[in-house]
Amino acid sequence: MANLETTYLGIKLKNPLVAASSGLTGTEGKIMELAEAGIGAIVLKSIFEEQINGEIGEMLDQSGRGNDYPEAEYYIQNYIRSNSLGKHTALLSKVKQATGLPVIASVNCVSVSEWFSFARDLESAGADAIELNVFYLPVRRNQEPAEVERIYTDVVRAVKAEVKIPVSVKIGSHFTHIVGMAEKLKANGASGVVMFNRFYEPDIDLDALEIRASEVFSSPAELRHTLRWIGLVSSQVSSLDIAATTGIHDSQAVIKLLLAGATVTQLCSALYLHGTAVIPSILEGLTAFMKKWNFRSIADFRGRLSYAKIGDPMVYERSQFMKYYSSRK
Ligand SMILES: Cc1cc2nc3c(=O)[nH]c(=O)nc-3n(C[C@H](O)[C@H](O)[C@H](O)COP(=O)(O)O)c2cc1C
Repeated sequence: MANLETTYLGIKLKNPLVAASSGLTGTEGKIMELAEAGIGAIVLKSIFEEQINGEIGEMLDQSGRGNDYPEAEYYIQNYIRSNSLGKHTALLSKVKQATGLPVIASVNCVSVSEWFSFARDLESAGADAIELNVFYLPVRRNQEPAEVERIYTDVVRAVKAEVKIPVSVKIGSHFTHIVGMAEKLKANGASGVVMFNRFYEPDIDLDALEIRASEVFSSPAELRHTLRWIGLVSSQVSSLDIAATTGIHDSQAVIKLLLAGATVTQLCSALYLHGTAVIPSILEGLTAFMKKWNFRSIADFRGRLSYAKIGDPMVYERSQFMKYYSSRK
């Protein structure tokens, strides 16, 4: 009988399927559906400092900014902040108790003090770990890459100084040196890295000559980029858990990522597109694969095809299509 149990960020999971942070992990009802379908853990929808600031701005506009009562402005700011944070921590405690599953809280802030302040409140509410959803878009011409990397490591250090629970960092794929970045995150206190976040991207509507949002959901083909970097990072950065995200739509994708060295796999687009039925379907596929190869536990095959383990590591490094082009007529 295949044993699907695994450990992620020091937390025991019944299987390596994690619901990625999204609108599907933002309400009790939806989280209960994920739990009933057999998910191994939940990453709550991120709490966004920017969104809270937006609500504060709206409320201040409605109540008349700069009115005769400056303390009213202070009251509104504090009220909205603690109300939003309170709702989030209440959801966390409730779903943790109702599902009995590990619940990871996700944080996205703009000011350093809020990163650790939010993380501290979420830890008190019972979060098993904190996932830092850090994204900084460098648009200034003169900014040095090292300066950008430091923003990420400073956030990890600041949060780690305040909380005892494990911290993982969800990163985008556009770093010059992804393996080195993963090593730096670990050195600054991260227990795990989530590779890779998928962001809002602009597209151009040629009929309307306007900028529009591009496709929100991933396609299975997007898996390959994640696969390469997980194979490389898992081989070179020891004692750092890796959660794979982007392009995971079926059991084959999950198996490939585990073979490349992922600790767990996070699902988002597949849940939006196919509903929670995709969870038992992936678990069945994973169990059938393990049975076929006589693997009794995930540890029996995790990382078996990573960069460090395969006979020809060049397949992970190859980036040009030289042979392909030269063999084509
Ligand atoms: C509608 C939607 C909402 C999302 N919200 C969040 C969020 O609040 N926090 C976060 O870290 N990632 C968020 N993500 C990113 C997902 O967690 C996931 O990393 C990404 O979609 C790639 O995985 P996928 O290919 O399975 O969709 C969101 C994605 C989608 C499509």
